[in-house]
Amino acid sequence: MPTRTWFSTSIYSELLKPIGLTRLNDELADECHRIRENDAGGRRWSAKNYRGGFTSYASMAELHRTSSTFAALEKRIRTHVLRFARQLDMDLRGRSVFMTDCWINIMPGGAAHGLHLHPLAFVSGTYYVRTPPGCSGLKFEDPRLDRFMAAPPRRADARPGNRPFVTYPAEAGRVVLFESWLRHEVTANPTEQERISVSFNYSWS
Ligand code: NI
Repeated sequence: MPTRTWFSTSIYSELLKPIGLTRLNDELADECHRIRENDAGGRRWSAKNYRGGFTSYASMAELHRTSSTFAALEKRIRTHVLRFARQLDMDLRGRSVFMTDCWINIMPGGAAHGLHLHPLAFVSGTYYVRTPPGCSGLKFEDPRLDRFMAAPPRRADARPGNRPFVTYPAEAGRVVLFESWLRHEVTANPTEQERISVSFNYSWS
């Protein structure tokens, strides 16, 4: 083949080990609701910046340090972050990898989260706690979208690697990881029920 593919973009998606997972998700959901109840600053911030939903992004974003439930989740996610980094051929010999931020997102029906990326991290991701059937997934866009200059549109049946967007369905128990510069969004939750997720950033030194 005269054409080879370079500069690939990887997204990692895997279910956490099922042992004790239902209980962990129940505990996480309870704790998410308690946080929303107690975090008045987060509710104020969300009312302005996260319309219709609640996020502790600006108020309680180190939950892995302050809650044993979130610390247990971090321990489970970490294995996947290391595996993802290995698949990206990142050289982590003699380096440590650690979670820097961990916050929650509660999205009732209609709540959306616009396009964004995660600065000051190298791997970011989302873990799904509660995902009502039909709730919105996580939509990623090709990071070179603004450089497509005069390119014609892609065919509807384009090969996966050539598509400009991909949406990963949200599924309770699943972790999705991506390099932090990759822009993503959650379109409005079309269901009547709450979609609950935990977002996080990883750094290295
Ligand atoms: Ni995000």
